[in-house]
Order: sequence, then C-alpha cells, then structure tokens
Amino acid sequence: MKVAVIGVGHVGLVTAATLAHFGHDVVGLDEDPAKIDTLQQGRAPFYEPGLQDLLDEVLGSGKLRFTREAAEAIEGADCAFICVGTPARADGEANLLAVENAARSVARNATGDIVVIQKSTVPVSTADRLHSIFAKATTHRIRLVSSPEFLREGAAVQDSLKPDRILVGSDDPEAHALMRKLYEPVLGGDCRYFEVDIHTAELAKHACNAFLALKISFANALARVCEASGADVVSVADIMGSDHRIGRDFLNAGLGYGGYCFPKDLLAFKAVAGRLGYDFGLLEEVMKINRGALDATVQKIKDALWNVESKKVLLLGLSFKPGTDDVRESPALNLARALTDLGAEVVGCDPQANEFAVREMPGLQVVEDPYKGAEGAHCIVVCTEWPEFADLDFVRLKGIVTLPMIVDGRNLLNEKDVVEAGFSYLPTGRPPANL
Ligand code: UGA
Repeated sequence: MKVAVIGVGHVGLVTAATLAHFGHDVVGLDEDPAKIDTLQQGRAPFYEPGLQDLLDEVLGSGKLRFTREAAEAIEGADCAFICVGTPARADGEANLLAVENAARSVARNATGDIVVIQKSTVPVSTADRLHSIFAKATTHRIRLVSSPEFLREGAAVQDSLKPDRILVGSDDPEAHALMRKLYEPVLGGDCRYFEVDIHTAELAKHACNAFLALKISFANALARVCEASGADVVSVADIMGSDHRIGRDFLNAGLGYGGYCFPKDLLAFKAVAGRLGYDFGLLEEVMKINRGALDATVQKIKDALWNVESKKVLLLGLSFKPGTDDVRESPALNLARALTDLGAEVVGCDPQANEFAVREMPGLQVVEDPYKGAEGAHCIVVCTEWPEFADLDFVRLKGIVTLPMIVDGRNLLNEKDVVEAGFSYLPTGRPPANL
C-alpha cells in the first residue's frame, strides 16, 4: 500500500518506519528542513532505542523515503497519516492548527480517493471539523479514521512493531477495511484490535493518558503521607500492585510526570470536558499533585542544605524519563530552574539529553561524566532513573563531594550501597537514612 506520513517527529517517524518494515511504500513528510536533511542522510534526528537499526533496514530496502514536498508525498497515496504536534494553548486547549494545516494539505494534494488517519492526540469531536474541511476542499472522497497511538518514548519501536492494541475509530466501513489490511502483519497474536466509532477513539486516548497520570499522582500523594508517617511508599505500591485490579505499573512516586504528552493531554482533556459541560475537577487535582511532587523535592533539598545559595547541586538525569533524549516538560529541568532561582550552582548529567537540555535551558552546566559533576557537590539529586546511575561507585563519589547527600527523586538507588559509602540518603516517600 502507498502511505504518506505527515510529521516525522517521535510518533510519525516510528510509525513510518514500522509501516515500511511491514512492507508498505512509505513517504515521510515534514516542513522542518533540518529534520528532513538528517533523515535523507539516513540518520535518526533523535535518540530512540532500535530506531536507527529500523531506519537502516527500511531505507536500505527503499520502502521509506522523506520529502518536504506535500504533493510528492500525497500523490497517489492510498492513505495519509497525520502525526503532527498538538501543543497546549495558554488556555489549556490543544492547539490544532498543525492538524488543520495537514488536513488541508491532504485535501489539496490528493489525486484520488484517500483514507486520512488522524494519529495526533486531539480532543473528542476534532473529526467533525476535519470532515467539514474535506467536504469543502476537495471533490475526492476522503474517508477519515482516528487511530491514536500508544507508543512510549524509549520503547516506541518495540511498542510499534509489537503493539498491545491498535485502536481504529471510523464511521466508514471501507476505511475500517483499509486499516485491517494495513495492520495485517500484527493482527492476531497478543495484539487487541479495537474497531470503534470515531469519537470513541478520540476520547479513549485522552482517557488512557489521564488515567496513567492519575495513577502517578495517586502514588505521589501517598508519598507525602508516607513521608509524614514514616511508612514506605514503594512497599505500599507493591502491596497495592499485587492486586490485579490495581496493577503495579505507574505507581512509582518521584518528581512527577513530564514529557510531551501527559502535561498537555491532561490540560486538553480538562478543557474539552469543560467545553462539553462537565467540570472534570479530578484532573485538576492530578495536575496539582504533580506540581506538588516537584515542590516537595525542592523543599527536601532546601531542608537538607539549609542555605541553598552558592551550593553545588548535581542533577543525575535531565530527560523526562530514561531511554530518551527528550527534555520537553522534563521534571529534571523544572527542578534545575527552581534550584537556580534559589541561587544554587546546578550541574546536570544525562547519558543522552545534555545537548537538548542546554538548548532548552541556555546556561545550564552539563557534564558527560557524573564523577566530574560530583566534584565539590553539596547534594546529588537523582532526577531520571537511567539504570547506569544505580551502578555508580558511591565510595568513589563520597571521596569527591563536599557534602555526602543524595536526594533520590526516583527511588532508584539501593539504600545499602549509598549509606555504606557514607552518604545521607533521602528517597521519595520512604524513610531517610543516615541523616
Ligand atoms: C505516554 C503514554 O505512556 C503512552 O502510552 C502514550 O502513547 C504517550 O504518552 C503519548 O501520548 O504519545 P510517554 O510520554 O512516552 O508515554 O512516557 P511515559 O512512560 O508514560 O511516562 C510519562 C511520565 O510519567 C515520565 O515523566 C515518567 O517519568 C513519569 N512516570 C511514569 C512516573 O513518574 N511514575 C510512574 O510510575 C510512571
């Protein structure tokens, strides 16, 4: 099948490469010249485990190519995926201008009937707007599908090649038939295939992300109560998680959620619910607890250091989660800003994200080597649970810091290792040790 993918960011590029791997002829379209240049040279423009290998394969087989010309990508295509960004507006609503522009571009450039698959996360009822754009802009038949994705950054290639579910929303039987054909290679097995109406698909994506964020905020609220009472939030989460009705995933307390998806999707879901007449106050509380998780860590560092001014703080991890170089809405960078505002000397260290972190927060000091960053530090804070940080030589670190103090904002480290090396250890929602 001939496939166009509009927008080759984290979602679009992985989708394009996966569909090419399935054997479809895919053209990736993006207006960003630097991104297209990099891709045309055969390189992934961001770090995602397994992506470069997948690109090597599908570029080598000629199944995937890239262009900045909409006409070239869309001409003769059986279907076009819209995978553009939907950032938050100041009022919390999703900014859908890029989705609108992509839809108009398909309508303008279609050379025959085409199925448009809306993959960007959008508020429920966006499909109605797209239908009316298509009706006015072209005489070709455009069948619309909403097929939100469930890729996790850091595991996106695996999620895409072996999805746990595929969600296809459409009110058009022929569009459903095309989608089944498109995804034939992964159907059967463990992948659940949901064929629903278009509004259900749109809403389900917001519901999934909001519920995952709710679980994280529940764990972070528990962490506050655990810290106040001397209980251990990790054990509480383990006990809760052993009940299969609850599940252990996404009950890790820490600095809170970040990234490109949850923060904007929570805002957008609350906004669209409000517009539809329902005050989804629960979502406001989820966001409030998330902000509180960061504030609680700042307070913990202040309590530990007494005067934060001029103290050196090493942040281990700058990406919003491990396995990615993405720093968008990263709790680590929000912490860096808060500590800088308090007068601390902040140094960051991340295995992948240093460059993007400095772009996002100009002036931030970064180091490749955590031992170098720890020289003279008064406090080390674990911000992102990269596995390599768990294996650091804490005895060596103890010899080079000024104050042996570790705040574990992700409950990553083994308490015994750090305490035996002589550090005071302040985890999240668990009793501190060696104060
Ligand atoms: C999220 C969803 O998990 C995907 O299913 C969805 O497809 C994607 O958004 C999207 O809408 O595109 P992602 O943003 O890549 O994926 O990252 P997550 O793994 O969900 O983590 C989000 C944030 O929550 C991270 O900052 C992570 O550190 C934090 N988190 C996660 C916790 O603080 N505690 C946990 O227990 C789990």
